[in-house]
Amino acid sequence: MSQAAKQRIDALCQQLTEHNHQYYVLDNPSIPDAEYDRLMRELQQLEREHPALLRADSPSQRVGGEPLAQFNSVAHLKPMLSLDNAMNEAEFSAFHQRLVERLGSAEIQYCSEPKLDGIAVSLLYRDGVLERAATRGDGMTGEEITQNVKTIGSVPLRLQGDDFPTLLEVRGEAFMPKAGFDEMNRKAHAAGEKTFVNPRNAAAGSLRQLDSRITATRPLAFYAYAMGVVEGQRQPLDNGHYQQLQQLKSWGLPVSPLVELALGEQGGLAYFRRVNEERASLPYEIDGVVIKVNQLEQQQQLGFVARAPRWAIACKFPAEEELTTLNDVEFQVGRTGAVTPVARLEPVFVGGVTVSNATLHNGDEIARLGVQIGDTVIIRRAGDVIPQIVSVVQDRRPEDARVIEIPTECPVCQSKVERFEGEAVARCSGGLFCEAQRKEAIKHFASRKALDVDGLGDKLVELLVDKELVKTPADLFGLSASALTMLPRMGMKSAEKLIKSLDAARATTLPRFLYSLGIREVGEATAANLARHFKTLPALAAAEVDDLIAVDEVGEIVAKHVYYFFRQPHNQEVIAALTAGESATVYWPEIAEIAEDQQPLKGQTWVLTGTMSQMGRADAKAALEALGAKVSGSVSKNTSTLVAGEKAGSKLTKATDLGVAVLDEQGLLDLLAQHQ
Ligand code: IVH
Repeated sequence: MSQAAKQRIDALCQQLTEHNHQYYVLDNPSIPDAEYDRLMRELQQLEREHPALLRADSPSQRVGGEPLAQFNSVAHLKPMLSLDNAMNEAEFSAFHQRLVERLGSAEIQYCSEPKLDGIAVSLLYRDGVLERAATRGDGMTGEEITQNVKTIGSVPLRLQGDDFPTLLEVRGEAFMPKAGFDEMNRKAHAAGEKTFVNPRNAAAGSLRQLDSRITATRPLAFYAYAMGVVEGQRQPLDNGHYQQLQQLKSWGLPVSPLVELALGEQGGLAYFRRVNEERASLPYEIDGVVIKVNQLEQQQQLGFVARAPRWAIACKFPAEEELTTLNDVEFQVGRTGAVTPVARLEPVFVGGVTVSNATLHNGDEIARLGVQIGDTVIIRRAGDVIPQIVSVVQDRRPEDARVIEIPTECPVCQSKVERFEGEAVARCSGGLFCEAQRKEAIKHFASRKALDVDGLGDKLVELLVDKELVKTPADLFGLSASALTMLPRMGMKSAEKLIKSLDAARATTLPRFLYSLGIREVGEATAANLARHFKTLPALAAAEVDDLIAVDEVGEIVAKHVYYFFRQPHNQEVIAALTAGESATVYWPEIAEIAEDQQPLKGQTWVLTGTMSQMGRADAKAALEALGAKVSGSVSKNTSTLVAGEKAGSKLTKATDLGVAVLDEQGLLDLLAQHQ
């Protein structure tokens, strides 16, 4: 009986280990999760029935075990070193120069690796079985975290193959991928629990759990970056670091796919630059690259200084998080009256730029962060993402810190600030009486996707409103060149040019006009849907909420915003001024309905790509659809015509390959004109 159980346990261990490797290391799941769970339950059941048969490398050990009272300390067999840093390219070049001199050779081969932002871990395999895992600690002694490390899916509990050394220490980084981190924090936040500041802290915190069952629920991963102590080799170790990493890979250890050989200073620099560019799109955080001399003989020749090797350097990217002080909070009023708190910060260099402002979004965000004026805060700027305050360093709060209060009156027009139930945002109730909202409304009205008034930038709009030359969008069309010349830095020539652009902007389309009104929640696409549905402005303005809900992608909230917009006397006045009478200020072609059986492009599928300079994508799509075409996102052999704007890329290549007809933007405009 026990013999049969042992055989079954061995077989299950082998199968589950293989599936685990496929899933976590090769990223290539081989069986459905449900099947994996079934096999795991069978194994756990057998192990419960036959406790003597429980193996140290059993995949069941990955779920965590009884909590520990404390961590044991572990003396590292070989110290775990740290790395010297290069803070910029020049410091890497200086590092390379030093090595050239010491080695007397200019052609140094490097192994280049991402510098993973997690925590260093040492794994000890005896006879291929993971015996012990430890943190780096102070480099000489760390903490034993074997139970916790066993829960990391990509760490093999048993090595693959049969040519691994009898004693093998693997060093690497345990980390938390960004997606897992976000998901974990989202859940913690929803449950009202504490969230982690960043993936690195989350990884460290998860591995420092005395209860490994908690660690097992955390989405941790591991990449090996070096061998430590090695004894009892069954095959000679390779004499290159890169090649040794490949050996580790062959024994089932995960190694970052970004590890590469690079030649000399230029090779190292090129790697640094390239990985820096890829940084934001990687699924985990890195804070630089590590460049290591590849030949082990050269490594030995170079040796160590203090606690770091001479043969490796960490080239750091600009930090994405820094500390700074919140000096003040100001409140900005947006187009829809939203009163947004903006943090004024002590300027700080983060993510490659100097940051002195950051949005605090709304009152809920201020409450979530628990931030006060005077606090030391952590600022984060990653990739092109706008800077964020991620947390407050509570124990650095000064005695005179001040609570941030959302104003009860608009800082611009002194109207009451209201906050509606279920909305996080506070709003100024002043509407277009509020100068701030007026400015934003006019900026929006003139913006590129709206009436597209060439040369009317944000600064100029602010000036026009400040000087009381313009109060509403309609006033723009009453401006004269001579009135404009009264503005600073506005000569007759520029003034006339602006009047011309304003005149040109009068010819528009109904979707653009609707978008330009700045109705809440009505973006380009909704404006196009509304125009297509109602055909005329009076029909839309008269629509009831239920009529509006009938429009594609318009829900109750949007419908109510549209309904109320057209019932505000002030808005009615502005619209009347913009469209009234014979000499209508702004005009657009009527949307004629073509009977379905007469639609010239009926049954055709069109695709739009590239940049259109005269007509937006949404307009082009709407116009094609009005002629009966279906507009799709991808080119196939069923595509009738591809409209290729400027800088068209792969879709154009594909269309040409498939022999699909191609039109440029002018060609499309000509075609549309024919069917007007
Ligand atoms: S090698 C003797 N390679 O950076 C060289 N370290 O201060 C020892 N790290 O705590 C380290 N990615 O955990 C090496 N590809 C990589 C690394 C890496 C991240 C961490 C390591 C250590 C710190 C170095």
